[in-house]
Amino acid sequence: MDICAVVMAAGNGTRMKSKHSKVVHQVAGKPIIQWVADALCEAGCNEQVYIVGDMQEEIRDVLGESVAYVFQEKRLGTGHAVMQAAPFLEGRDGYTIVLPGDSPMVSAATITAAVECISESDYAAVIITATAEDPTGYGRIIRDGEGNVLRIVEHKDASDEERKVREINSSMYVFKTPLLLSALGRLSAGNAQHEYYLTDTIGILIGDGHKVGAVVCDFDDTRGVNDRVQLMEAGRIINRRILEKHMMNGVQIIDADNTWIHSAVEIGRDSIILPGTSLMGNTVIGEDCIIGENTRLNCVQVGDGTEIDHSIASQCIIGADCRIGPFSHIRPDTVIKDHVTIGAYVEVKNSTVDDYTRARHLTYIGDSTVGKNVNFGCGTVTCNYDGQDKVGCVIEDNVFIGGNSNILSSVTLGRDSYIAAGSTITADVPALGLGIGRSKQVNKEDWVTKKNRLRGANFIKLDSRRTEV
Ligand code: UD1
Ligand code: CA
Repeated sequence: MDICAVVMAAGNGTRMKSKHSKVVHQVAGKPIIQWVADALCEAGCNEQVYIVGDMQEEIRDVLGESVAYVFQEKRLGTGHAVMQAAPFLEGRDGYTIVLPGDSPMVSAATITAAVECISESDYAAVIITATAEDPTGYGRIIRDGEGNVLRIVEHKDASDEERKVREINSSMYVFKTPLLLSALGRLSAGNAQHEYYLTDTIGILIGDGHKVGAVVCDFDDTRGVNDRVQLMEAGRIINRRILEKHMMNGVQIIDADNTWIHSAVEIGRDSIILPGTSLMGNTVIGEDCIIGENTRLNCVQVGDGTEIDHSIASQCIIGADCRIGPFSHIRPDTVIKDHVTIGAYVEVKNSTVDDYTRARHLTYIGDSTVGKNVNFGCGTVTCNYDGQDKVGCVIEDNVFIGGNSNILSSVTLGRDSYIAAGSTITADVPALGLGIGRSKQVNKEDWVTKKNRLRGANFIKLDSRRTEV
């Protein structure tokens, strides 16, 4: 089947009050215009022409060179927009899908239904329509007594009687390409908005003796995004659809109103997503994981059986059966292997942490390579920054690091070695050795009595909070 699509995206999207093109704003992690392009591809239409205006660069950056672009110099209406694609349509014999660029909720199923409807009938065009609770502002579908489509009337041009019609034009259509071209050539701008209305092609085709069909779809599928309120609403609806897809695939989601999952995210079955969680970008979660509450993962790969609680991670890999959080921060280019524990107030950046290693509290691991079964005492810091360069350290398998230790840049802690608590380690520690890097303790016998500094007996007097009262 010879099928192509024309997407109208030349508008400035003034109501968004944005520096950016309306259609590059993201919904569920994907630009609006990309939702449209993907729905077309999914419906089997890869030949796409985008009508673009002043902000075309941003649209080109999103969609790339696999689609065609036509610049619409003056915005003289939707009919004028589609006319710009005429050079692409001339000589073609199949069907042309026309979509607005600002409708991220359009589904492949709806497009396919319209294409099937036109190809199995003798319709010149098929309009995708919906029933709106409040049709104000939309073009209305005007039908005859037998229910045949007669024309579309724009809200501004409609009579009071016509305005009562709740069946609206979604601005999505499929046309027989030669008939679309013939009707476009006869549009005029004699209407309330002095624009060339694409909607007038319907009346023209019917005037020619053709028939026009309508596919009625869910109103949500037709919603356009014109301002930030509608952007939020679109986000909610699409998010809900994404969550439902995961739930149908065996993922447990506790609170659909407080869970945000981007379109590309994958989650294995029997994983549980707790409230307040955002899964962003191309995050992939394994099976039997527990993610959340209040966790944000952006482009993170998570292995099976891992739990991540109240934590933030981005652009990193976390293996299977790990325990992350609460309050961990895993930064880009980190690889955490399997059975690892990263606990409260632990930050890991650009490091590899091998199996069974534990950093349960208050630790920073940066630019470092950490072996298997390493124990980080509370308050360990890899001092990876000398003020000029960032170089971490190498910590080999089975190393035990006592609490509150600093491991300086470029140092290697050999396998099975120990680091005494409170050390600042500035030189390599050999395998099986003990590194102590702190001053030796001195005890002064009976110092308190000699200095008359006994506290226990009169602690109330010494307590500053009490004496201040
Ligand atoms: C259009 C339909 C209306 C329908 C509504 C659905 C017409 C005349 N009206 O109205 O029947 O109910 O959509 O949302 O078609 N565009 C261009 N170039 C232009 C003008 C518009 O590319 O010169 C693009 C816009 O960027 C937008 C789309 O076409 O993506 C629709 O244009 P818009 O002005 O929003 O049409 P509506 O008044 O909403
Ligand atoms: Ca619109």
